[in-house]
Amino acid sequence: ASTLGASAAEKGRYFGAAIAAGRLGDSTYVGILNREFNSVTPENEMKWSYTEPQQGSFSYGSADRIVNHARSLGKTVRGHTLLWHAQQPGWAQNMSGSALRNAMNNHVTQVATYYRGKIHSWDVVNEAFADGGGGGRRDSNLQRTGNDWIEVAFRLARAADPNAKLCYNDYNTDGVNAKSTGIYNMVRDFKSRGVPIDCVGFQSHLTNSAPSDYQANLQRFADLGVDVQITELDISGSNQANAYAAVTRACLAVTRCNGITVWGIRDSDSWRTGQNPLLFDGNGNKKAAYDAVLNAL
Ligand code: XIL
Repeated sequence: ASTLGASAAEKGRYFGAAIAAGRLGDSTYVGILNREFNSVTPENEMKWSYTEPQQGSFSYGSADRIVNHARSLGKTVRGHTLLWHAQQPGWAQNMSGSALRNAMNNHVTQVATYYRGKIHSWDVVNEAFADGGGGGRRDSNLQRTGNDWIEVAFRLARAADPNAKLCYNDYNTDGVNAKSTGIYNMVRDFKSRGVPIDCVGFQSHLTNSAPSDYQANLQRFADLGVDVQITELDISGSNQANAYAAVTRACLAVTRCNGITVWGIRDSDSWRTGQNPLLFDGNGNKKAAYDAVLNAL
């Protein structure tokens, strides 16, 4: 096939992009979105600060613009994200203890219920593990409510939207390392105790190459009985095209790899300002990295 989405679909996968509601009036941007991608992730609009700016007052306008655009064209939606230490509303940042835990749980239930039936996969929890060699949890206001906050969130998300795949999502987890192994151990524990988890997201914000054990790392998670997804792919550096091809091949080589999402459309849309890590240039032209992905699919 001649587009990323159609080619991925021929292999039973999706190919998605992070989308900003504020760019849906840009015809070049929307033209590429509509043509190339069959999955979308709201880049920011489902985060806690957007969806519950005041406690108990929910706001879905900008997320809905993305969801409705995608679904009207038959594209699936990844929900990102229900609980994260960053981009929280000010009121939550100032909370702790059981008050924060109750607010977290209510947020998960409300947002997952609002979008019930419309989300292919939810990033229920984002970036809860620490960098470095310890393999443990990141310190955050969420973590300080008690180590069980992640499993509670997954159980509530399942109850609210039984048909969405429920994912744990993180970065610097793209090879076998202490952080990814910490997550691996959590997923193994969840599976053994019946905590509902369906998928692990690998953000894959990369420079020049994927780790040599990228595919093996995806496979070890798949072997636990969860799907794996590449959720926020962007790659800077002179080896960009080769690295994009390698990531694409790795996903296709892992039966349980559902698909790939790039974190933006054009280089000018990227959060990595000045690094040009995406598949289209600022004018919307296909880059060598685009051709490398399409050839690998
Ligand atoms: C980024 C967005 O791209 C930016 O627009 C925003 O200012 C900050 O967040 N990991 C994640 C994403 O899970 O939500 C982040 O997105 C990038 C890193």
